[in-house]
Amino acid sequence: MSVRITPQQAPPLRLGINIDHVATIRNARGDAYPDPARAAEVAMLAGADGITAHLREDRRHISDADIDALAALTRRRGRPLNLEMAVTLEMEAIALAHKPHAACLVPERREEVTTEGGLDVAGQHNRIAPVVGSLKAAGVRVSLFIEPDPLQIAAAHAVGAHVVELHTGAYCLAVREGRPEADALFNRLREGAALAASLGLEVHAGHGIDYETVSAVAAIPELAELNIGHFLIGEAIFTGLDAAIRRMRALMDAARARTWADPESQEAAA
Ligand code: PXP
Repeated sequence: MSVRITPQQAPPLRLGINIDHVATIRNARGDAYPDPARAAEVAMLAGADGITAHLREDRRHISDADIDALAALTRRRGRPLNLEMAVTLEMEAIALAHKPHAACLVPERREEVTTEGGLDVAGQHNRIAPVVGSLKAAGVRVSLFIEPDPLQIAAAHAVGAHVVELHTGAYCLAVREGRPEADALFNRLREGAALAASLGLEVHAGHGIDYETVSAVAAIPELAELNIGHFLIGEAIFTGLDAAIRRMRALMDAARARTWADPESQEAAA
């Protein structure tokens, strides 16, 4: 699919910062430091448009109290909170109690190290549709974290989601490992973003993005938001969180500007 998008048609690209791994470090000592809410404050001052946090069923990083604090903080600052959550009754109840700006439904397995793949919306329509419906009825913007697979994108549209977040993990890992599949995985992302946008879905992307991969991802013109966490929290050890986020933001913005400065680049990437 190669419909060229103009700057006027394209959404501005927002940056959501995922602060889960600030809680991972805190929990290593079972203490209160470092505080994810403080990291969220720094992130917003550094140019984050919103804050993302994943309340996992096993509470391995973000806690219920963190969600209370982040909900209050983002409300005070007038910034969106994006709650990542599994499709369970417990998480649905928590989301309905907080009514965050957005909820991103993700697959969750206790034994996984991180969210390993996208949600199987096509195979779990009957499980996912009622949760999407109840969150939407409560005024929450619903996002589904899926692989850039046309079947899953069509299923996300059919289930009534506002947003799809395309899983960039496989592409980013292939780039880091220097594997030749990276190009094909990138094309899948680009085509997935175009398909989702053509169905009227807002398109986000995230997982595994670092300084090396952000420019290519940010240049996909249909994307409205990137959610980035682990790399930035790691990079904060070396340069500080503020500087790490500012550099990421600058790379994103420069990639977007290049897309518009060079109209051929959308075709070149095709
Ligand atoms: N988006 C979603 C839906 C995620 O589950 C995660 C990881 O929690 C991210 C984005 C951020 O990924 P990373 O921490 O690898 O940047």
